Amino acid sequence: MKFTASCAELSGLKADSLILPTGSELSNSAKVVNKLTLNSIDSAIESAEFTGKSGQILVLNLPQSPLQRIILLGTDGLSNQRQIKKAVTAACGALNKTKSKTALWIGGNITQDIQAEATIVAQSINASLYSYKKHNAGNKPNLESLTFWSTQQSAIQSAEAGLKYGAAVGDAMNTAKQLGNLPANICTPSYLAAQAISLGEAKLAKASITTEILDRADMQLLKMDSLLSVAEGSEEPPKLIVINYQGAKSEEKPVVLVGKAVTFDSGGISLKPGRGMDEMKYDMCGGASVLGVMNALVELELPINVVGIIPATENMPNGRATKPGDVVTSMSGQTIEILNTDAEGRLILCDSLTYAAKFNPDTVIDIATLTGAVISALGKVASGVLSNDQQLANDLIESGTQSADPVWQLPLWEEYDDLLKSNFADMANIGGPQAGTITAGCFLARYAQDYKWAHLDVAGTAWVSGTNKGATGRPVALLMEYLRQKAK
Ligand code: BES
Ligand code: MN
Ligand code: ZN
Repeated sequence: MKFTASCAELSGLKADSLILPTGSELSNSAKVVNKLTLNSIDSAIESAEFTGKSGQILVLNLPQSPLQRIILLGTDGLSNQRQIKKAVTAACGALNKTKSKTALWIGGNITQDIQAEATIVAQSINASLYSYKKHNAGNKPNLESLTFWSTQQSAIQSAEAGLKYGAAVGDAMNTAKQLGNLPANICTPSYLAAQAISLGEAKLAKASITTEILDRADMQLLKMDSLLSVAEGSEEPPKLIVINYQGAKSEEKPVVLVGKAVTFDSGGISLKPGRGMDEMKYDMCGGASVLGVMNALVELELPINVVGIIPATENMPNGRATKPGDVVTSMSGQTIEILNTDAEGRLILCDSLTYAAKFNPDTVIDIATLTGAVISALGKVASGVLSNDQQLANDLIESGTQSADPVWQLPLWEEYDDLLKSNFADMANIGGPQAGTITAGCFLARYAQDYKWAHLDVAGTAWVSGTNKGATGRPVALLMEYLRQKAK
Protein backbone atom coordinates (compact mmCIF):
# COMPACT_ATOMS: atom_id res chain seq x y z
CA MET A 1 0.00 0.00 0.00
CA LYS A 2 1.30 3.42 -0.96
CA PHE A 3 0.30 6.49 1.04
CA THR A 4 0.88 10.08 -0.01
CA ALA A 5 -0.24 13.47 1.26
CA SER A 6 -1.39 16.27 -1.00
CA CYS A 7 -2.93 19.73 -0.84
CA ALA A 8 -3.27 20.18 -4.59
CA GLU A 9 -6.40 21.58 -6.22
CA LEU A 10 -9.13 18.97 -5.70
CA SER A 11 -10.48 19.21 -9.23
CA GLY A 12 -7.10 18.07 -10.55
CA LEU A 13 -6.84 14.92 -8.46
CA LYS A 14 -7.87 11.54 -9.82
CA ALA A 15 -8.90 8.45 -7.86
CA ASP A 16 -11.26 5.49 -8.25
CA SER A 17 -12.97 6.54 -5.03
CA LEU A 18 -13.02 9.70 -3.01
CA ILE A 19 -13.85 9.37 0.68
CA LEU A 20 -15.45 12.39 2.19
CA PRO A 21 -16.10 12.53 5.90
CA THR A 22 -18.84 15.09 6.46
CA GLY A 23 -21.73 16.10 8.67
CA SER A 24 -25.00 17.55 7.43
CA GLU A 25 -23.33 20.99 7.39
CA LEU A 26 -20.80 20.98 4.58
CA SER A 27 -17.24 22.14 5.25
CA ASN A 28 -15.35 24.11 2.59
CA SER A 29 -13.75 20.99 1.16
CA ALA A 30 -17.12 19.20 1.19
CA LYS A 31 -18.60 22.11 -0.75
CA VAL A 32 -15.88 21.78 -3.37
CA VAL A 33 -16.55 18.06 -3.71
CA ASN A 34 -20.26 18.79 -3.88
CA LYS A 35 -19.68 21.15 -6.78
CA LEU A 36 -17.36 18.74 -8.59
CA THR A 37 -19.99 16.01 -8.31
CA LEU A 38 -22.96 18.00 -9.64
CA ASN A 39 -24.40 18.70 -6.16
CA SER A 40 -24.62 15.01 -5.38
CA ILE A 41 -24.09 15.60 -1.65
CA ASP A 42 -26.83 18.22 -1.45
CA SER A 43 -29.19 15.80 -3.17
CA ALA A 44 -28.27 12.94 -0.85
CA ILE A 45 -28.96 15.14 2.16
CA GLU A 46 -32.19 16.56 0.70
CA SER A 47 -33.54 13.10 -0.01
CA ALA A 48 -32.46 12.06 3.53
CA GLU A 49 -30.43 9.24 2.01
CA PHE A 50 -27.55 10.70 3.94
CA THR A 51 -28.03 12.44 7.28
CA GLY A 52 -24.40 12.92 8.31
CA LYS A 53 -24.97 10.90 11.47
CA SER A 54 -21.75 9.51 12.92
CA GLY A 55 -20.50 6.41 11.16
CA GLN A 56 -23.15 6.47 8.40
CA ILE A 57 -21.83 5.38 5.01
CA LEU A 58 -23.26 6.23 1.63
CA VAL A 59 -21.58 5.20 -1.61
CA LEU A 60 -22.51 7.44 -4.56
CA ASN A 61 -21.62 6.16 -8.02
CA LEU A 62 -21.39 9.11 -10.39
CA PRO A 63 -20.23 7.87 -13.78
CA GLN A 64 -21.10 11.23 -15.38
CA SER A 65 -18.98 13.36 -13.02
CA PRO A 66 -15.19 13.82 -13.04
CA LEU A 67 -15.03 12.06 -9.66
CA GLN A 68 -16.56 8.70 -10.48
CA ARG A 69 -17.41 7.60 -7.00
CA ILE A 70 -17.62 9.22 -3.60
CA ILE A 71 -18.02 7.51 -0.28
CA LEU A 72 -19.68 9.72 2.30
CA LEU A 73 -18.88 9.06 5.93
CA GLY A 74 -21.10 10.71 8.52
CA THR A 75 -19.27 12.72 11.17
CA ASP A 76 -22.02 14.41 13.19
CA GLY A 77 -21.59 13.44 16.83
CA LEU A 78 -18.18 11.79 16.49
CA SER A 79 -16.75 12.68 19.86
CA ASN A 80 -13.97 10.30 20.82
CA GLN A 81 -11.18 8.23 19.32
CA ARG A 82 -13.08 4.95 19.61
CA GLN A 83 -16.00 6.35 17.60
CA ILE A 84 -13.62 7.86 15.07
CA LYS A 85 -11.81 4.57 14.63
CA LYS A 86 -15.09 2.72 14.20
CA ALA A 87 -16.26 5.21 11.58
CA VAL A 88 -12.97 5.17 9.68
CA THR A 89 -12.94 1.37 9.77
CA ALA A 90 -16.45 1.32 8.32
CA ALA A 91 -15.33 3.64 5.51
CA CYS A 92 -12.35 1.36 4.78
CA GLY A 93 -14.73 -1.59 4.55
CA ALA A 94 -16.96 0.26 2.09
CA LEU A 95 -13.92 1.35 0.07
CA ASN A 96 -12.62 -2.21 -0.21
CA LYS A 97 -16.04 -3.40 -1.36
CA THR A 98 -15.88 -1.02 -4.33
CA LYS A 99 -12.67 -2.77 -5.48
CA SER A 100 -11.03 0.59 -6.06
CA LYS A 101 -7.33 0.63 -6.80
CA THR A 102 -6.76 4.24 -5.86
CA ALA A 103 -8.41 6.34 -3.20
CA LEU A 104 -8.48 9.96 -2.15
CA TRP A 105 -9.25 10.78 1.47
CA ILE A 106 -10.46 14.27 2.25
CA GLY A 107 -8.77 15.10 5.53
CA GLY A 108 -9.59 17.70 8.13
CA ASN A 109 -13.31 17.07 8.53
CA ILE A 110 -13.00 14.49 11.33
CA THR A 111 -10.55 16.39 13.50
CA GLN A 112 -8.32 19.47 13.21
CA ASP A 113 -5.43 17.21 14.23
CA ILE A 114 -4.29 16.17 10.76
CA GLN A 115 -1.53 13.91 12.04
CA ALA A 116 -4.00 12.00 14.22
CA GLU A 117 -6.48 11.66 11.37
CA ALA A 118 -3.81 10.52 8.91
CA THR A 119 -2.61 7.99 11.49
CA ILE A 120 -5.97 6.39 12.01
CA VAL A 121 -6.70 6.37 8.27
CA ALA A 122 -3.43 4.64 7.33
CA GLN A 123 -3.69 2.23 10.24
CA SER A 124 -7.29 1.30 9.42
CA ILE A 125 -6.58 0.96 5.70
CA ASN A 126 -3.65 -1.39 6.25
CA ALA A 127 -5.51 -3.34 8.93
CA SER A 128 -8.50 -3.69 6.58
CA LEU A 129 -6.33 -5.21 3.85
CA TYR A 130 -5.46 -8.23 6.00
CA SER A 131 -6.98 -11.59 5.32
CA TYR A 132 -5.84 -14.97 6.58
CA LYS A 133 -3.99 -16.87 3.90
CA LYS A 134 -2.27 -20.16 4.27
CA HIS A 135 -4.92 -22.84 4.10
CA ASN A 136 -7.34 -20.88 1.95
CA ALA A 137 -6.93 -18.37 -0.85
CA GLY A 138 -7.61 -15.31 1.28
CA ASN A 139 -8.92 -12.17 -0.39
CA LYS A 140 -6.64 -10.34 -2.73
CA PRO A 141 -6.97 -6.65 -1.91
CA ASN A 142 -7.53 -4.26 -4.80
CA LEU A 143 -6.47 -1.04 -3.16
CA GLU A 144 -2.95 0.04 -4.11
CA SER A 145 -2.66 3.66 -3.07
CA LEU A 146 -4.34 6.34 -1.01
CA THR A 147 -3.80 10.07 -1.16
CA PHE A 148 -4.61 11.96 2.00
CA TRP A 149 -5.75 15.42 1.00
CA SER A 150 -5.74 18.42 3.25
CA THR A 151 -6.38 22.12 2.72
CA GLN A 152 -3.10 23.64 3.72
CA GLN A 153 0.49 23.14 2.70
CA SER A 154 1.40 23.51 6.38
CA ALA A 155 -0.45 20.29 7.19
CA ILE A 156 1.41 18.12 4.69
CA GLN A 157 4.24 17.25 7.03
CA SER A 158 1.84 16.27 9.78
CA ALA A 159 -0.16 14.19 7.32
CA GLU A 160 2.97 12.42 6.09
CA ALA A 161 4.14 11.69 9.62
CA GLY A 162 0.71 10.32 10.51
CA LEU A 163 0.51 8.17 7.38
CA LYS A 164 3.93 6.66 7.97
CA TYR A 165 3.24 5.93 11.61
CA GLY A 166 -0.29 4.63 11.05
CA ALA A 167 0.80 2.40 8.16
CA ALA A 168 3.52 0.80 10.29
CA VAL A 169 1.07 0.22 13.14
CA GLY A 170 -1.49 -1.31 10.77
CA ASP A 171 1.18 -3.63 9.33
CA ALA A 172 2.30 -4.60 12.83
CA MET A 173 -1.29 -5.41 13.75
CA ASN A 174 -1.50 -7.63 10.68
CA THR A 175 1.69 -9.44 11.68
CA ALA A 176 0.17 -10.10 15.09
CA LYS A 177 -3.14 -11.19 13.53
CA GLN A 178 -1.51 -13.64 11.14
CA LEU A 179 0.55 -15.29 13.88
CA GLY A 180 -2.52 -15.46 16.08
CA ASN A 181 -4.70 -17.00 13.39
CA LEU A 182 -2.18 -19.67 12.39
CA PRO A 183 -3.14 -23.04 13.86
CA ALA A 184 -1.12 -24.45 16.74
CA ASN A 185 0.27 -27.30 14.61
CA ILE A 186 2.11 -24.68 12.56
CA CYS A 187 2.59 -21.83 15.00
CA THR A 188 4.68 -23.71 17.57
CA PRO A 189 7.27 -22.19 19.92
CA SER A 190 9.95 -23.12 17.35
CA TYR A 191 7.97 -21.39 14.59
CA LEU A 192 7.71 -18.19 16.64
CA ALA A 193 11.44 -18.36 17.35
CA ALA A 194 12.15 -18.70 13.63
CA GLN A 195 9.91 -15.68 12.93
CA ALA A 196 11.82 -13.64 15.49
CA ILE A 197 15.14 -14.62 13.93
CA SER A 198 14.02 -13.72 10.43
CA LEU A 199 12.71 -10.37 11.66
CA GLY A 200 16.18 -9.67 13.03
CA GLU A 201 17.87 -10.70 9.80
CA ALA A 202 15.50 -8.82 7.52
CA LYS A 203 15.79 -5.60 9.46
CA LEU A 204 19.42 -5.71 10.45
CA ALA A 205 20.45 -3.27 7.76
CA LYS A 206 17.97 -0.72 9.03
CA ALA A 207 18.46 -0.79 12.77
CA SER A 208 20.39 -2.26 15.61
CA ILE A 209 18.43 -5.35 16.47
CA THR A 210 19.64 -8.62 17.96
CA THR A 211 17.67 -11.78 18.58
CA GLU A 212 18.55 -14.54 20.97
CA ILE A 213 16.67 -17.78 21.48
CA LEU A 214 17.06 -19.56 24.80
CA ASP A 215 16.19 -23.23 24.64
CA ARG A 216 15.36 -25.72 27.38
CA ALA A 217 18.98 -26.25 28.46
CA ASP A 218 19.56 -22.48 28.74
CA MET A 219 16.44 -22.13 30.83
CA GLN A 220 17.52 -25.00 33.07
CA LEU A 221 20.81 -23.23 33.74
CA LEU A 222 18.89 -20.08 34.66
CA LYS A 223 16.66 -22.16 36.99
CA MET A 224 13.45 -21.16 35.21
CA ASP A 225 11.67 -24.15 36.66
CA SER A 226 8.27 -22.46 36.74
CA LEU A 227 8.38 -21.76 32.99
CA LEU A 228 9.78 -25.23 32.31
CA SER A 229 7.07 -26.92 34.37
CA VAL A 230 4.49 -25.69 31.85
CA ALA A 231 6.47 -27.13 28.92
CA GLU A 232 6.95 -30.45 30.69
CA GLY A 233 3.74 -32.00 29.40
CA SER A 234 4.40 -31.24 25.74
CA GLU A 235 6.46 -32.80 22.95
CA GLU A 236 7.19 -29.34 21.57
CA PRO A 237 10.36 -27.76 22.99
CA PRO A 238 9.87 -24.40 24.73
CA LYS A 239 11.68 -21.28 23.54
CA LEU A 240 12.42 -18.03 25.30
CA ILE A 241 12.69 -15.41 22.57
CA VAL A 242 14.63 -12.25 23.37
CA ILE A 243 14.69 -9.39 20.86
CA ASN A 244 16.77 -6.35 21.63
CA TYR A 245 16.03 -3.16 19.66
CA GLN A 246 18.42 -0.27 20.17
CA GLY A 247 16.93 2.91 18.77
CA ALA A 248 18.48 5.25 21.35
CA LYS A 249 21.84 5.66 23.07
CA SER A 250 23.02 2.43 24.61
CA GLU A 251 23.05 3.85 28.14
CA GLU A 252 19.35 4.68 27.95
CA LYS A 253 17.31 2.17 29.98
CA PRO A 254 14.99 0.07 27.87
CA VAL A 255 11.29 -0.59 28.06
CA VAL A 256 10.91 -4.36 28.31
CA LEU A 257 7.82 -5.94 26.75
CA VAL A 258 7.04 -9.47 27.92
CA GLY A 259 4.48 -11.33 25.77
CA LYS A 260 2.81 -14.59 26.80
CA ALA A 261 3.05 -17.10 23.97
CA VAL A 262 1.31 -20.33 24.92
CA THR A 263 0.92 -21.63 21.38
CA PHE A 264 -1.79 -23.98 22.58
CA ASP A 265 -3.40 -24.00 26.02
CA SER A 266 -5.21 -27.28 26.57
CA GLY A 267 -5.22 -26.54 30.30
CA GLY A 268 -2.78 -29.40 30.94
CA ILE A 269 -3.92 -32.00 33.48
CA SER A 270 -6.54 -29.45 34.60
CA LEU A 271 -7.91 -30.00 31.09
CA LYS A 272 -10.22 -27.40 29.58
CA PRO A 273 -13.70 -28.36 28.37
CA GLY A 274 -13.82 -29.22 24.65
CA ARG A 275 -16.18 -26.46 23.59
CA GLY A 276 -14.26 -23.64 21.95
CA MET A 277 -10.92 -25.19 22.84
CA ASP A 278 -9.61 -24.44 19.35
CA GLU A 279 -9.52 -20.79 20.39
CA MET A 280 -6.69 -21.58 22.75
CA LYS A 281 -4.41 -21.34 19.71
CA TYR A 282 -4.82 -17.61 20.40
CA ASP A 283 -3.11 -17.96 23.77
CA MET A 284 0.08 -16.64 22.12
CA CYS A 285 -1.42 -13.30 21.09
CA GLY A 286 0.53 -11.41 23.78
CA GLY A 287 3.77 -12.68 22.28
CA ALA A 288 2.51 -11.97 18.76
CA SER A 289 1.76 -8.37 19.71
CA VAL A 290 5.34 -7.98 20.94
CA LEU A 291 6.66 -9.34 17.63
CA GLY A 292 4.42 -6.90 15.78
CA VAL A 293 5.66 -3.99 17.88
CA MET A 294 9.31 -4.91 17.34
CA ASN A 295 8.64 -4.91 13.59
CA ALA A 296 7.07 -1.46 13.70
CA LEU A 297 9.85 -0.01 15.87
CA VAL A 298 12.43 -0.99 13.28
CA GLU A 299 10.22 0.25 10.46
CA LEU A 300 9.83 3.66 12.09
CA GLU A 301 13.32 3.79 13.60
CA LEU A 302 11.78 5.07 16.82
CA PRO A 303 14.47 6.60 19.07
CA ILE A 304 13.97 4.35 22.08
CA ASN A 305 15.44 1.13 23.46
CA VAL A 306 13.00 -1.77 23.70
CA VAL A 307 13.58 -5.39 24.65
CA GLY A 308 10.93 -7.95 23.69
CA ILE A 309 10.83 -11.15 25.75
CA ILE A 310 8.51 -13.90 24.56
CA PRO A 311 8.21 -17.09 26.60
CA ALA A 312 6.81 -19.64 24.15
CA THR A 313 5.49 -23.08 25.04
CA GLU A 314 2.53 -25.39 24.74
CA ASN A 315 0.45 -26.36 27.77
CA MET A 316 -0.34 -30.05 27.29
CA PRO A 317 -1.22 -33.07 29.43
CA ASN A 318 1.17 -35.95 28.82
CA GLY A 319 2.56 -38.46 31.34
CA ARG A 320 5.28 -36.09 32.44
CA ALA A 321 2.98 -33.10 32.80
CA THR A 322 2.74 -31.07 35.98
CA LYS A 323 0.03 -32.40 38.33
CA PRO A 324 -2.20 -30.27 40.56
CA GLY A 325 -0.44 -29.99 43.90
CA ASP A 326 3.06 -30.09 42.43
CA VAL A 327 5.45 -27.47 43.81
CA VAL A 328 8.09 -25.71 41.72
CA THR A 329 10.80 -23.19 42.53
CA SER A 330 10.78 -20.18 40.22
CA MET A 331 13.94 -18.45 39.00
CA SER A 332 13.45 -15.81 41.71
CA GLY A 333 13.68 -18.50 44.40
CA GLN A 334 10.02 -18.14 45.38
CA THR A 335 8.15 -21.45 45.48
CA ILE A 336 4.77 -22.04 43.83
CA GLU A 337 2.14 -24.67 44.55
CA ILE A 338 0.50 -25.38 41.20
CA LEU A 339 -3.11 -26.01 42.20
CA ASN A 340 -4.42 -25.62 38.67
CA THR A 341 -2.28 -26.38 35.63
CA ASP A 342 -4.58 -24.19 33.54
CA ALA A 343 -3.24 -21.11 35.32
CA GLU A 344 -0.05 -21.55 33.29
CA GLY A 345 0.38 -18.04 31.87
CA ARG A 346 1.57 -16.59 35.15
CA LEU A 347 3.98 -19.52 35.52
CA ILE A 348 5.81 -18.66 32.32
CA LEU A 349 5.56 -14.91 32.89
CA CYS A 350 7.00 -14.92 36.41
CA ASP A 351 10.34 -16.34 35.28
CA SER A 352 10.33 -13.98 32.30
CA LEU A 353 9.77 -11.03 34.66
CA THR A 354 12.69 -12.15 36.80
CA TYR A 355 14.81 -12.47 33.65
CA ALA A 356 13.72 -8.95 32.54
CA ALA A 357 15.64 -7.40 35.47
CA LYS A 358 18.85 -8.36 33.65
CA PHE A 359 18.21 -5.53 31.19
CA ASN A 360 18.08 -2.87 33.92
CA PRO A 361 14.69 -1.75 32.62
CA ASP A 362 13.10 1.66 32.89
CA THR A 363 9.68 0.00 32.68
CA VAL A 364 8.39 -3.53 32.15
CA ILE A 365 5.02 -4.22 30.53
CA ASP A 366 3.70 -7.73 30.14
CA ILE A 367 0.95 -8.57 27.68
CA ALA A 368 -1.01 -11.77 28.17
CA THR A 369 -4.25 -13.54 27.38
CA LEU A 370 -4.22 -14.39 31.05
CA THR A 371 -7.70 -14.83 32.48
CA GLY A 372 -11.23 -15.62 31.37
CA ALA A 373 -12.24 -13.41 34.29
CA VAL A 374 -11.17 -10.24 32.47
CA ILE A 375 -13.85 -11.01 29.87
CA SER A 376 -16.46 -11.08 32.64
CA ALA A 377 -15.13 -7.79 34.02
CA LEU A 378 -14.53 -5.75 30.85
CA GLY A 379 -16.01 -7.77 28.00
CA LYS A 380 -14.34 -7.41 24.63
CA VAL A 381 -14.03 -3.63 24.73
CA ALA A 382 -11.18 -2.77 27.08
CA SER A 383 -8.10 -4.75 28.03
CA GLY A 384 -7.32 -4.91 31.74
CA VAL A 385 -4.35 -3.00 33.15
CA LEU A 386 -2.80 -3.55 36.57
CA SER A 387 0.32 -1.77 37.72
CA ASN A 388 2.60 -1.11 40.67
CA ASP A 389 3.07 2.47 39.42
CA GLN A 390 0.09 4.80 39.02
CA GLN A 391 1.86 7.12 36.59
CA LEU A 392 2.56 4.18 34.30
CA ALA A 393 -1.06 3.02 34.56
CA ASN A 394 -2.21 6.55 33.70
CA ASP A 395 0.14 6.71 30.72
CA LEU A 396 -1.17 3.41 29.38
CA ILE A 397 -4.79 4.47 29.88
CA GLU A 398 -4.06 7.72 28.02
CA SER A 399 -2.27 5.88 25.19
CA GLY A 400 -5.21 3.50 24.97
CA THR A 401 -7.63 6.40 24.66
CA GLN A 402 -5.53 8.10 21.98
CA SER A 403 -5.09 4.94 19.93
CA ALA A 404 -8.69 3.73 20.41
CA ASP A 405 -7.23 0.55 21.86
CA PRO A 406 -8.56 1.12 25.38
CA VAL A 407 -7.52 -0.33 28.72
CA TRP A 408 -9.18 -0.08 32.11
CA GLN A 409 -7.48 -0.39 35.46
CA LEU A 410 -8.10 -2.94 38.20
CA PRO A 411 -6.55 -2.69 41.69
CA LEU A 412 -3.63 -4.67 43.11
CA TRP A 413 -4.55 -4.41 46.79
CA GLU A 414 -3.02 -6.69 49.41
CA GLU A 415 -6.47 -8.04 50.33
CA TYR A 416 -6.42 -9.73 46.94
CA ASP A 417 -2.83 -10.85 47.25
CA ASP A 418 -3.83 -12.66 50.48
CA LEU A 419 -5.93 -15.03 48.37
CA LEU A 420 -2.74 -16.59 46.96
CA LYS A 421 -1.71 -18.13 50.32
CA SER A 422 -0.57 -21.74 50.19
CA ASN A 423 0.13 -24.21 53.01
CA PHE A 424 2.96 -25.81 51.07
CA ALA A 425 4.77 -23.06 49.17
CA ASP A 426 5.30 -19.28 49.12
CA MET A 427 2.18 -18.95 47.04
CA ALA A 428 -0.45 -20.89 45.12
CA ASN A 429 -0.85 -20.25 41.40
CA ILE A 430 -4.57 -19.52 41.74
CA GLY A 431 -6.55 -17.36 44.14
CA GLY A 432 -9.95 -19.04 44.05
CA PRO A 433 -13.07 -18.20 42.11
CA GLN A 434 -13.26 -14.46 42.83
CA ALA A 435 -11.41 -11.55 41.21
CA GLY A 436 -9.44 -13.88 38.94
CA THR A 437 -7.82 -11.12 36.90
CA ILE A 438 -6.64 -9.32 40.00
CA THR A 439 -5.24 -12.38 41.77
CA ALA A 440 -3.35 -13.23 38.58
CA GLY A 441 -1.97 -9.68 38.62
CA CYS A 442 -1.04 -10.00 42.32
CA PHE A 443 0.84 -13.19 41.50
CA LEU A 444 2.88 -11.39 38.81
CA ALA A 445 3.44 -8.35 41.04
CA ARG A 446 5.47 -10.55 43.39
CA TYR A 447 8.00 -10.93 40.57
CA ALA A 448 8.06 -7.30 39.48
CA GLN A 449 9.08 -5.56 42.68
CA ASP A 450 12.36 -4.14 41.39
CA TYR A 451 11.01 -1.93 38.61
CA LYS A 452 8.01 -0.02 37.31
CA TRP A 453 5.69 -2.62 35.88
CA ALA A 454 2.28 -2.97 34.28
CA HIS A 455 0.35 -6.04 33.23
CA LEU A 456 -2.09 -5.99 30.32
CA ASP A 457 -4.70 -8.76 30.33
CA VAL A 458 -5.83 -9.03 26.70
CA ALA A 459 -7.84 -12.28 26.98
CA GLY A 460 -10.97 -10.39 25.94
CA THR A 461 -9.49 -8.16 23.26
CA ALA A 462 -6.83 -10.11 21.34
CA TRP A 463 -9.32 -12.03 19.24
CA VAL A 464 -13.03 -12.28 18.46
CA SER A 465 -15.08 -15.49 18.41
CA GLY A 466 -18.07 -16.52 16.34
CA THR A 467 -18.53 -16.16 12.59
CA ASN A 468 -15.90 -13.40 12.45
CA LYS A 469 -13.45 -15.48 14.44
CA GLY A 470 -10.00 -13.97 14.14
CA ALA A 471 -7.20 -12.15 15.89
CA THR A 472 -7.58 -8.37 16.26
CA GLY A 473 -3.97 -7.23 16.48
CA ARG A 474 -4.65 -5.64 19.86
CA PRO A 475 -2.92 -4.18 21.84
CA VAL A 476 -0.31 -3.26 19.20
CA ALA A 477 -1.76 0.22 18.63
CA LEU A 478 -1.80 0.95 22.36
CA LEU A 479 1.79 -0.20 22.88
CA MET A 480 3.02 1.77 19.87
CA GLU A 481 1.31 4.93 21.08
CA TYR A 482 2.85 4.46 24.52
CA LEU A 483 6.33 3.98 23.03
CA ARG A 484 5.90 6.87 20.60
CA GLN A 485 5.03 9.22 23.46
CA LYS A 486 7.93 7.91 25.47
CA ALA A 487 10.38 8.31 22.60
CA LYS A 488 9.48 11.99 22.20
N1 BES B 1 -5.38 -18.71 28.45
C1 BES B 1 -6.26 -18.81 29.55
C2 BES B 1 -7.12 -17.56 29.71
C3 BES B 1 -8.29 -17.45 28.79
C4 BES B 1 -9.43 -18.18 29.01
C5 BES B 1 -8.25 -16.58 27.74
C6 BES B 1 -10.51 -18.05 28.16
C7 BES B 1 -9.34 -16.42 26.90
C8 BES B 1 -10.47 -17.16 27.11
C9 BES B 1 -5.48 -19.00 30.84
O1 BES B 1 -4.32 -19.73 30.72
C10 BES B 1 -6.38 -19.74 31.77
O2 BES B 1 -6.69 -20.85 31.47
N2 BES B 1 -6.79 -19.09 32.84
C11 BES B 1 -7.67 -19.67 33.78
C12 BES B 1 -7.15 -19.33 35.16
C13 BES B 1 -7.86 -20.09 36.25
C14 BES B 1 -7.51 -21.55 36.18
C15 BES B 1 -7.43 -19.50 37.58
C16 BES B 1 -9.07 -19.09 33.55
O3 BES B 1 -9.17 -17.91 33.27
O4 BES B 1 -10.01 -19.85 33.62
MN1 MN C 1 -4.69 -21.82 30.85
ZN1 ZN D 1 -3.41 -19.71 28.93
